[in-house]
Amino acid sequence: MVLLKLEKVTKKFGGIVAVDSVDLQVEQGEALGIVGPNGSGKTTLYNLISGVYTPDEGRIIFDGKDITGMPPHARTPLGLARTFQIPRPFGSATVRENVAIGAMFGRASMDVEEALREADEHLKLIGIYNLRNKEAKLLTPLEKRFMELARALAMKPKILLLDEVMAGMHPSDIEKIIETLQKIRKEEHVAVVSMVEHLMHAITKFAERVVVMHQGRKLIEGETARVLNDPRVIEVYLGKRVV
Ligand SMILES: Nc1ncnc2c1ncn2[C@@H]1O[C@H](COP(=O)(O)OP(=O)(O)OP(=O)(O)O)[C@@H](O)[C@H]1O
Ligand SMILES: [Mg+2]
Repeated sequence: MVLLKLEKVTKKFGGIVAVDSVDLQVEQGEALGIVGPNGSGKTTLYNLISGVYTPDEGRIIFDGKDITGMPPHARTPLGLARTFQIPRPFGSATVRENVAIGAMFGRASMDVEEALREADEHLKLIGIYNLRNKEAKLLTPLEKRFMELARALAMKPKILLLDEVMAGMHPSDIEKIIETLQKIRKEEHVAVVSMVEHLMHAITKFAERVVVMHQGRKLIEGETARVLNDPRVIEVYLGKRVV
């Protein structure tokens, strides 16, 4: 089932066409990677999907609803969650409280006790239940990433947009993040869309399908290994074969 659909979406900044008539579909539960050189429109595409920007042209359909002009806070309860490149937790709140905030943010009405109970479930699923009473500011960068994932998951998303969640991480930590993402997909049937910068190994492990952006357009999309070995992708982006 198609969960998210972009139809000829365009976003301009003055004379720059940051995203140029892009069509994109995301299936329920799929793992999609988005790559492309600097300035190719990846972040703008994310901001259009999450509602930070409204497209100049085109439509965005999520779960059968037209969300094109909808603000971000109205998209979250529909099942659209994102993480940020730089996580901004409430530092003096505990891990459990931070995740509970996610639960409350995702629903129109939920009391604090219920949100805290739900937070525990998500902390267990992500594997950081043992950290629940720690202040968020005391976490390591990896632990913060996991907390960010638990918090996003607490919003009950149908789709999770990850903004460079693996950037700057040790390879063994990347492995752990990917395992956790696969678990979320399997157990919660959440589609995961991830921007994976300069981490080709991570892309091949994580993504079933890849979209390559180039100058605001979709250069190519398809099955991961095939796309990453396409001569056009090698030329504009990679400079060498990866798999
Ligand atoms: N708020 C903005 N105002 C003006 N121009 C912008 C804005 N955001 C993006 N752009 C321009 O739009 C184009 C696409 O930028 P975008 O940030 O989406 O690319 P990106 O693929 O995320 O790049 P990077 O890999 O460097 O993060 C670039 O030319 C950029 O300079
Ligand atoms: Mg970017």
